[in-house]
Amino acid sequence: MKFFIDTANLQDIRETQDLGILDGVTTNPSLMAKEGITGDENVRAHYKAICDSVDDNVSAEVISTDFNEMVLEGESLAKIDDKIVVKIPMIKDGVKAIKHLSNQGIRVNCTLIFTAGQALLAAKAGASYVSPFIGRLDDISTDGVALIQQIVHIYNNYEFTTEVLAASIRHTMHLIQCAEVGADVVTCPAKVIMGLLNHPLTDKGLAQFLADHNKARETAAPVLS
Ligand code: G3P
Repeated sequence: MKFFIDTANLQDIRETQDLGILDGVTTNPSLMAKEGITGDENVRAHYKAICDSVDDNVSAEVISTDFNEMVLEGESLAKIDDKIVVKIPMIKDGVKAIKHLSNQGIRVNCTLIFTAGQALLAAKAGASYVSPFIGRLDDISTDGVALIQQIVHIYNNYEFTTEVLAASIRHTMHLIQCAEVGADVVTCPAKVIMGLLNHPLTDKGLAQFLADHNKARETAAPVLS
């Protein structure tokens, strides 16, 4: 299972990379705007900085919604670095653009997936990844994790190589549930990845181990030579 971080924040990306478990980064126009990154040159430089901070798999999203423009923008993004995966929205022109870019060997992540039918179309067009947004489905009282399970099942039926990238993950249980149903990738904020570290019994157990060790050291008889 791959772990991606869902942010354009370089500090969060580098801190998570430093943990040694990071497989990639996903960004979107909202996350880039949150970091105050605007203007073509700044955006490209920021993507390059992200690519230089991780081993592979940096999703960079197109802004265009027209087929020809999406293809040009996707080709241009892909030239920034070999680690770039072009993110294309699930719209009619997007499906055509996925096919076109994938045929050129450019990896594509099809984003804004909310149904199994959309995921099937993206796989048939040759997307490397599909991104179902599970948190946003949960927000409207729909089971986001069930969609991941359904897409994994369909892809397995036909041996599609498209990877299921569970996105819009809000908390650690979302991540665990995605792992249980076989998502290939999860992308989440740093706090969700770091949240996996925590358990009060781990903290309590470690405190006890260290206290016992220190007590034994203080009371131990000196070793005679
Ligand atoms: O990867 C998609 C993600 O950024 C959307 O997350 O929390 O805005 O639904 P959220």
